[in-house]
Amino acid sequence: MSTDESPNSPLCNRRLGASWDTLSENYFGRILSPFGTKRSTNALLELMPSFPPFARVLDAGCGNGYLLDALRRRRNVFDGVVGLDLSHTMCTTARQTRDSRYSVIQGDMAHPPFKGQRFDAVIAINSLLSADRRKRDNILRSFSWLLRPGGHLVMLVPSLESYNEQLMYLREEYMAEGCDERTAIAHVYDTLNERLFDPIGGYVTIARTTLRVKLYYRQEIATYLEDVGMRGTTVVRYSYPAAMCRSLGMTCGRDGLYDWFVTCRRGPEG
Ligand SMILES: C[S@@+](CC[C@H](N)C(=O)[O-])C[C@H]1O[C@@H](n2cnc3c(N)ncnc32)[C@H](O)[C@@H]1O
Repeated sequence: MSTDESPNSPLCNRRLGASWDTLSENYFGRILSPFGTKRSTNALLELMPSFPPFARVLDAGCGNGYLLDALRRRRNVFDGVVGLDLSHTMCTTARQTRDSRYSVIQGDMAHPPFKGQRFDAVIAINSLLSADRRKRDNILRSFSWLLRPGGHLVMLVPSLESYNEQLMYLREEYMAEGCDERTAIAHVYDTLNERLFDPIGGYVTIARTTLRVKLYYRQEIATYLEDVGMRGTTVVRYSYPAAMCRSLGMTCGRDGLYDWFVTCRRGPEG
């Protein structure tokens, strides 16, 4: 791979940013983000740990800025909220909701443009998605550097367990309808359609795009966080509404679709 093609190169970042630009055109319609309404956003805020008064918060991979807007409404709790996103279009949309204390910066989470600055909290909702391992490690390291000691990292990351469970329930349904095992599995793969799914590595292509994203085992994400010096990690299920599972074309199974809601704190310096 030439230097220009490395996952952190400006060329790759431009391509990645452009893919998210395209998605942002009809963001909530295209990726079916569950956080398009006040109600769902408030549910997410309720899960967050309490930050110090007037905390300085970074929304890493802020997308179209729904969370910036929600944090702004809670201005007695948060101060100095900064949004960061690679996609020009996402940043433009996010800027439409900001006031002077809330800035939106276009940049890469793996190399954030905040030299010497520290945050009380970094929030990354469905944005630690890179399918490249080195890039992912760089992003997690940069989250750790950006936090003051004791600062909070809050993330929502896609769950590999949940994705596999949904496919397993679908297989069961086909078997219950009388398919033999081989046919049932073939039908499940048909359902995935062009979304290339690698259940071993935990990678999947987002529907109707070429964007590959990483899904995480619960223990896997906790281990990566430990590796970059984060402490006290908790990983709990964040369950999506049944209507959303259906619109994703997944059966809802017994347990519905969920992702991992992760909280941890940066360990002491040195
Ligand atoms: C699935 S969207 C989630 C956005 C928002 N947090 C939400 O919950 O709706 C992922 C966002 O992460 C951004 N992103 C992906 N990789 C990034 C990177 N390396 N640096 C900055 N932003 C990135 C994308 O541009 C996109 O806006």
